[in-house]
Amino acid sequence: MKFGYFDDAKREYVITTPRTPYPWINYLGTQGFFSLISNTAGGYCFYKDARLRRITRYRYNNVPIDMGGRYFYINDNGTIWNPGWSPVKTELDSYECRHGMGYTIITGKKDSLKASVTFFVPQNYNGEVQQVVLTNEGTSSKSFKLFSFAEWCLWDAQDDCTNFQRNFSTGRVEVKDSVIYHKTEYRDRRNHYAFYSVNDTIDGYDTDRDSFIGLYNGFNNPEAVLNGKATNSFADGWSPIASHYKEITLAPGETKTLVFILGYVEMPVDEKFEADGKTINKVKALEMIEKYNTPEKVQAGLAELKAAWDKLLGILSVETPNDKVDRMVNIWNQYQCMVTFNLSRSASYFESGIGRGMGFRDSNQDILGFVHQIPDRARERIIDIASTQLQDGGCYHQYQPLTKKGNADIGGDFSDDPLWMILSVSAYIKETGDWTILDEMVPYDNDMSVAETMLKHLDVSFYHIVNNLGPHGLPLAMRADWNDCINLSCYSDTPGESFQTYTNPKFKAEGGYSKIAESIFVATLFTYTGPNYVAILKHLGKNAEAAKAQAEIDKMKENVMKYAFDGDWFLRAYDATGAKMGSKECEEGKIFIEPQGFAVMSEIGKDQGADIKTLNSIDKYLNTKFGLVLNNPCFTKYYIQYGEISTYPGGYKENAGIFTHNNAWIICAEAYAGRGDKAFEYYSKIAPAFTEETSDIHKTEPYVYGQMIGGKDAGSDVGQTGKNFGQGKNSWLTGTAAWNMVAISQYILGIQPDFDGLKVDPSIPAEWNGFKASRQFRGATYNITINNPKHVCKGVVNMTVDGKTVMGNVIPPFENGTHDVVVTLG
Ligand code: GLC
Ligand code: GLC
Repeated sequence: MKFGYFDDAKREYVITTPRTPYPWINYLGTQGFFSLISNTAGGYCFYKDARLRRITRYRYNNVPIDMGGRYFYINDNGTIWNPGWSPVKTELDSYECRHGMGYTIITGKKDSLKASVTFFVPQNYNGEVQQVVLTNEGTSSKSFKLFSFAEWCLWDAQDDCTNFQRNFSTGRVEVKDSVIYHKTEYRDRRNHYAFYSVNDTIDGYDTDRDSFIGLYNGFNNPEAVLNGKATNSFADGWSPIASHYKEITLAPGETKTLVFILGYVEMPVDEKFEADGKTINKVKALEMIEKYNTPEKVQAGLAELKAAWDKLLGILSVETPNDKVDRMVNIWNQYQCMVTFNLSRSASYFESGIGRGMGFRDSNQDILGFVHQIPDRARERIIDIASTQLQDGGCYHQYQPLTKKGNADIGGDFSDDPLWMILSVSAYIKETGDWTILDEMVPYDNDMSVAETMLKHLDVSFYHIVNNLGPHGLPLAMRADWNDCINLSCYSDTPGESFQTYTNPKFKAEGGYSKIAESIFVATLFTYTGPNYVAILKHLGKNAEAAKAQAEIDKMKENVMKYAFDGDWFLRAYDATGAKMGSKECEEGKIFIEPQGFAVMSEIGKDQGADIKTLNSIDKYLNTKFGLVLNNPCFTKYYIQYGEISTYPGGYKENAGIFTHNNAWIICAEAYAGRGDKAFEYYSKIAPAFTEETSDIHKTEPYVYGQMIGGKDAGSDVGQTGKNFGQGKNSWLTGTAAWNMVAISQYILGIQPDFDGLKVDPSIPAEWNGFKASRQFRGATYNITINNPKHVCKGVVNMTVDGKTVMGNVIPPFENGTHDVVVTLG
């Protein structure tokens, strides 16, 4: 069942009912000011950091769902409604929400009055513009009342929802003309304020929540709206809000357009106030308001936003026999990559914006999906991340975007972290050909006095693995690897304790973590990633160092084959007792997905057929109709030696859920092994455009990936096996966005930036006749045509560039111009 449709020409998803199976959201803003907005206008805004600079308030996990947003209320002679249906939930005569690239348009109609609100954050602008277009579509004149509404958050979102003894006395506002200012704490330590304006006169306002809503009412029936009049309340402590009130009369056919702006302003400390020392200096706010105070200016702002997206999405576009693939590659997957790049895992409808900052491993992986769009920002991001690395190659697991400092509360010792940086730096160089990033002086732990080159950072990353091997010469698992829920060093039997608390007395003497537990995942990630480092060294003429690193990779491959191949697939780990995890010998969790794809792509044991055996085992044991489960059989009891993974009921999260992120690694591996049909089968099971038809089962947005889909075992715990099989959760902020972008564009469609140029090596469904792609790369544009006359999956037999045959399948880099590339498979 569908709840809307794709409008590809406009690059929009059009939602046709407010009752989606879950709130379906969009993100506005890509630079400093961000908003989350659902299809019923729920959500919130913040500046750069969803925890430390939260501008409007939101109530997570509320009843009913999705409470708090920027709402417009209409009181039309006693009939009260919102253009987005919620929160009043009066039945509308028509409803539509269009989520587009950086904007959302919500339109509702009731009793011949149409209200259409366009929300967007303009380029280089710290505010959300809301254009409200009201049209009287009836035959007689209409008088009604319009109320805007936003609720201020008292800046620190964590404090805002916990520290009531203080916060109920700090809220401060100012009202001047049609602008409501939120100046809580501005008098003391803050140099920023927020405002909510409208480009017209108003007939009243409210700034105190309880006066507007009424202490015992809700967002669904605010007293002021019911009474049809604002109270002109002035907040002093409690919960400050901003609501404009306007009485409007429209003749038949008449339209009125109002522009509201929710903005954020920072002031130099000595210019914070007017001469009286207490009135806000409004110069910057008024400048911002001036910028979008007419519908014409709003149109120009929207056009500028569209042009920016045309440019970003114009770098790679494809025309394949499957419009769902085109939709994902050309629009939504790239869009999601931008959002994950900007927000990491901080703020979504499943991440509260106060829990996590930027993850070291997450942000490095996000670069892979995004680097072609804005390489400059990728470069900057890589340096920020690398600056939190420690001198021995270890890493802080997270950092806070506002301070850019490593987060000491969370700490480090995640065994996989350093490797992802080798991958992101390589991806950056492959895309741009900019080798100078390696010469950049980058601090350790943000301490410039111990800065070394980026190249040296790669070196310590690589050797962090080599220097931390266990009894089988495989990487120590440490606190956790990519799978945060496999906690081989924790032994936690204390409720409330983090599963990643590895100060367990058992390992304290050994420095915190087991010196026995080994991760085969990290081993294969190392053999997959390491060759990039070797290629970099070779390019720099450092042949001895390259040979040394290559020897470490070869040794690792040998050890994996010797100690970690279980006959038909690769083991997951050795636990802290030295027992195998992810083996035929295990009672549960016999096979895991994570190490397999990278092992195949590293060609470990390929000469003995290990790659195909492994891929076939995945098909046999992990494949389901909704995607590949993470492990099988699921764990049905708590295994203290594995930790958190075995605490989830089977079918959820890391315990046999369909964790889409690592499905991508198998898609890549299938494509790598030349099995394009299988690669595509797995791709189409999880790619959102393909799951649109089953939105009632899938629940989350059909235009973006979620982290997890319920596995075949979901519900088994309660005797209802398969109950939530196929149900998506944790949409938007997931490494799946980047990895599936890589999987479809670089592995299946095979357009792969490489150190020496653009490589073309598709691995597609055999039934395809071919496809077309356009790719901007290092200053030139390539129009690529792939022909597949023999209906194979993979194998380039001929390639011409501008009519001339080229040896191999790497397009030699041109600096400019447009070039025609024709590739024949066979
Ligand atoms: C989440 C985390 C990611 C981790 C994964 C598996 O997606 O963001 O860092 O690798 O879960 O536990
Ligand atoms: C990370 C992962 C999540 C996992 C959690 C365990 O936050 O995102 O998937 O459940 O760690 O602590």
